[in-house]
Amino acid sequence: MYQDQHASFSVGQHTQPACAVAPLRVGMIGLGTVGAGTYRVLQRNAGVIAARTGRRIEIRMVAVRHLARAAGIVTPEVLLTDDPFAVVNDPGIDVVVEVMGGTGLARELVLQAISQGKHVVTANKALLAEHGSEIFAAAQAQGVVVAYEGAVAVSIPIIKALREGLAANHIQWVAGIINGTTNYILSEMQAKGLGFAAALAEAQRLGYAEADPALDVQGLDAAHKLTLLAANAFGVPVRFDQVYVEGITTLDALDIRLAGRLGYCVKLLGIARRTPHGLELRVHPTLIAADHLLAQVHGAMNAVLVKSDAAGITMYYGAGAGAEPTASAVIADLVDVCRVAGTAPRQRVPHLAFQPDAIQALPVAAIDALESRYYLRLDVVNPARTVAQLLGHLAVAGVSVQQLDVTEHPGDPGWSAVVLLTDPTPERVLRGVLAELAQWPNVMGFASTLRMEALN
Ligand code: HSE
Repeated sequence: MYQDQHASFSVGQHTQPACAVAPLRVGMIGLGTVGAGTYRVLQRNAGVIAARTGRRIEIRMVAVRHLARAAGIVTPEVLLTDDPFAVVNDPGIDVVVEVMGGTGLARELVLQAISQGKHVVTANKALLAEHGSEIFAAAQAQGVVVAYEGAVAVSIPIIKALREGLAANHIQWVAGIINGTTNYILSEMQAKGLGFAAALAEAQRLGYAEADPALDVQGLDAAHKLTLLAANAFGVPVRFDQVYVEGITTLDALDIRLAGRLGYCVKLLGIARRTPHGLELRVHPTLIAADHLLAQVHGAMNAVLVKSDAAGITMYYGAGAGAEPTASAVIADLVDVCRVAGTAPRQRVPHLAFQPDAIQALPVAAIDALESRYYLRLDVVNPARTVAQLLGHLAVAGVSVQQLDVTEHPGDPGWSAVVLLTDPTPERVLRGVLAELAQWPNVMGFASTLRMEALN
């Protein structure tokens, strides 16, 4: 019904308007999933994009590894080359779209493009998280733009929200599900009771996880994205090396089940928070209440929550991976590049939301300075006696327990799984207590310690 109505309004169908301004000439490096998606969406939606920009965006040149394969994807007007430096050095190119990935050659090419006075659009979060300071400084010096909306939670315009929509606010924290692969795996573990290895195999079979999923499952991809979110939220430099990272590879399906009994689910969260003891920058599996909005984010979807002083909590949700969702962000960046022509660099939206001279290297808090609630699981024998002793010992150490659950251990009929949810406790204190408890004869193993977040 909606489609029929829409089709009958010719005003809804944008054909390419006659644009008086010269087209934006794009050179692209890489024509994989994202590059081909970008080309396809630019072709398909050329009319509506030009209606917004008043300027055509034309891919003039593409550097690829396999020329014959590329010739089957782009039309013959597009010049194909297997030399990416030919793209970044070509005086007929205004903006370079880097969608090849990696941090070595990609860094060299991006810096070379900048030195040639070209704007750059990239979806490469690893590149910017690791070399962002160098790249943004070079771009600043040359007066060009490096745009990267596609690098973080692809389809969600979260960089634009932080840099522009929330520009009036002091941002207190940003937290989110910013890796689709791990969210898919955790959703499957939760819904089907699968172990990590089985859920990963399923994700690979369906194409959600890469053949080499290390960056995703170890939490590093989320840490790359968190680095960029934090820089834009707080006006700090990009500092990937200071993010505390735990992935999901050692997560036990039993903990997901036992957390569920207590009304929680486990998500891999990226959290950046301004606190009196410094910035928290951390990625780790986290318990959140099963009725929290983030707990409703399933499969490969992403979502980001931002808490700021004037706007309050805002939430952003969308596809976190995929050819066209990423293309949407890459093209939005090209549209922004269309609009910077003739503007002085200081009047543009700054690369990291704040003017370069306002960026401050605030201290990053060590993880043991964190104060959090915790989920603890201990596998014990003689539970009645052990639990009483345990609660007494924790009370003396200053760890108060809010909820307790004791169940038979599914892996060993002689053991019980004791789950404790603590009140807020300094991580330093908790680690000390756990080291002591590990020596107890009735404690067969410290199965798990997971941090909890309320995010309200
Ligand atoms: N591997 C990433 C993810 C793709 O799973 O979220 C998008 O950055």
